[in-house]
Amino acid sequence: MLSLTKITAIRKKYPALLLNGRNTMVNLNELIQQLTLEEKAELLTGGDFWHTRAIERLEIPAIMMSDGPSGLRKQEKESDHLGIYGSTPAVCFPSSAAVAASFDTALAQKLGCVVGNECQAEGVALLLGPGLNIKRSPLCGRNFEYYSEDPVLAGQMGAAMVEGVQSTGTGSCIKHFAANNQETDRMVGDSVVDERTLHEIYLAPFEAVVKEARPQAVMCAYNKVNGTFCSENGTLLTDILRSAWGYQGMVVTDWGAVKNRAVGVRAGLDLEMPGGSRRGIQQVLDAVAAGTLTEAEVDRAVYNVLKLVQTGIENHHPDAVFDRAADHDFARHIAEECAVLLKNKDSVLPLTEESSVALIGDFAAAPRYQGGGSSHVNSAYISRAVDCMPKGMSWTRGYDQGSDTSDRTLLEEAVAAARKADAAVILAGLPERYESEGVDRTTLEMPANQNELIEAVSDVQPNTIVVLYNGAPITMPWLDKVAAVLEMYLPGDGVGAATMDLLYGKANPSGKLPETFPQKLAHTPSWFNFPGENGITEYREGVFVGYRYYDAKEMDVLFPFGYGLSYTSFAYSNMTVDRSRMGEGETLRVQLTVINTGKLPGKEVVQLYVAPPAGMRRRPVRELKSFAKVALQPGERREITFELNARDLAYYEPLLHDFYTPTGCYEIEVGASSRDIRLRKEVSFTAERPLPRMFTEYSTLADVVSDPKD
Ligand code: BGC
Repeated sequence: MLSLTKITAIRKKYPALLLNGRNTMVNLNELIQQLTLEEKAELLTGGDFWHTRAIERLEIPAIMMSDGPSGLRKQEKESDHLGIYGSTPAVCFPSSAAVAASFDTALAQKLGCVVGNECQAEGVALLLGPGLNIKRSPLCGRNFEYYSEDPVLAGQMGAAMVEGVQSTGTGSCIKHFAANNQETDRMVGDSVVDERTLHEIYLAPFEAVVKEARPQAVMCAYNKVNGTFCSENGTLLTDILRSAWGYQGMVVTDWGAVKNRAVGVRAGLDLEMPGGSRRGIQQVLDAVAAGTLTEAEVDRAVYNVLKLVQTGIENHHPDAVFDRAADHDFARHIAEECAVLLKNKDSVLPLTEESSVALIGDFAAAPRYQGGGSSHVNSAYISRAVDCMPKGMSWTRGYDQGSDTSDRTLLEEAVAAARKADAAVILAGLPERYESEGVDRTTLEMPANQNELIEAVSDVQPNTIVVLYNGAPITMPWLDKVAAVLEMYLPGDGVGAATMDLLYGKANPSGKLPETFPQKLAHTPSWFNFPGENGITEYREGVFVGYRYYDAKEMDVLFPFGYGLSYTSFAYSNMTVDRSRMGEGETLRVQLTVINTGKLPGKEVVQLYVAPPAGMRRRPVRELKSFAKVALQPGERREITFELNARDLAYYEPLLHDFYTPTGCYEIEVGASSRDIRLRKEVSFTAERPLPRMFTEYSTLADVVSDPKD
């Protein structure tokens, strides 16, 4: 099989396929005319686990795809899509859950550049990521791979990542399209979602990334949406993705997501992966023979596959170098930008090197830094906390991460060490067996032995600091007893050094929570409908996902969306809006000043929310619409500008099958979290078209005359 590594030779030998962009269309169509129907059907199924299929007769090469996005999982020997077999030594970057906590699109873009370059160096043309699914429940086993409970944050971080990857010439494949929000029944489940919720929450990040970053590929999800498998779903793959959003790239199945291949091609699915089997090929041939699939439909899919192959070949940089040491340093830097400081009583952090510190936890020697499953990276280097301890720090294991039961000897050793020291730092969180692709959690609790250890240590040591490694929210029954909590998420293989830099103030935490930490599982919006019954999951909470739900219900939470502390402090002032009225097609400029009022350099994430007026449809109390991360020296001030348009004030109106902004008065809110709004202004919006009303034979005269159209 031909592969990208032989690209220089291919370039000289096969000019027919390797054309410059302007001629692409014409020549690919000419090439398609030379293919037999059999060859066309073959091109629509991969050649093996990770490659497209080469057609030697016409000198059409194959390209390679590999998992990501938090590092490269390139498999050259045994292959699997569950992270079981080995892969090329690479660098594990923070998982998407962590990257989202940075609220830093420039950082996400840089990450994309670095991973894209690694792909180039390894001959991988398409990176399978990022995942854009919304965190509907904190229990979803793949939440560590996803960005947020909020579609704007997920869309902006995802678009930046895709732009970064594709700036290197590597393609990015966004996934899993769509409404793939749980692992229970993952190959067969049906996500039943109303039209408004689908567009406003679950499709919105995909829409943003498709329109802003033009990913080369979209991966369809395993599940059904409203009764139809995503791999056969014409509404999703053609009507929405291509017709409404203008997508022009290639659509690939998730690995093994194909049901009926011919039905899929008709619905807009181009490439079946993994390859190597004739089943799908035969189904396409049979369907064409039976007249249920036209050759034009086959050609359309072949064109999309060939375009992807051609782009991969043309954009390959054979000279790219994968510098594992430099990229590992970058992974550590990103981890420092993602950490969220949740509690810091009496400024117990940062620590000073003069104080004696008891470092406690199995994770210090065997760190938890990445999630399990297809995104699992084989790290070339891992920085462990025990290897980065400053003088004055000593380590005890405290618990066994392979067990949930307390080991008395380990616990007592840790308590004794904590009692003698000036402070205790406990590295805790979720072992890998608690969260992984393929299985959802059933509880938000950490292992009992870790909770017991934290209680016991904080009984003897008032300066107890808990550092957490987990891919999704947990409960913290000991929160009132400890002095500080630093949430690291799954920070990649720079974990040990990054943790120490943050604890000792070489880095100042600047992350904010990209999701709500609820007080308990029973409070979560999808509690009654997760993970569904008999393979059917009804999204009955509608658009009220994450903070949209907790705010509407006026519920207390453990930590709200957007929350995070710093070793310094920030003040917000001077908010202005450049107009008090706006309409369709107009832009609202919002400005404000942020000042670092503390004594250390730091970064603040300024968040802009819109609170809509009451109307015919129930809407969330407030929704994130924009954000900016700003670095400030002590005393430094910076003016921040946001721009909003009508779509930022809109909701999805099912009667129109489109987004709609009703006339009314909107509050523009700026804050440091969803529950810490510091500044507000009002703007009134006037809609060009009134909202359509639905009348039936039972509508009253009063209903009809109250229609603003009359
Ligand atoms: C996962 C995808 C992954 C693919 C290839 C599937 O099981 O859902 O996210 O890209 O395998 O490994």
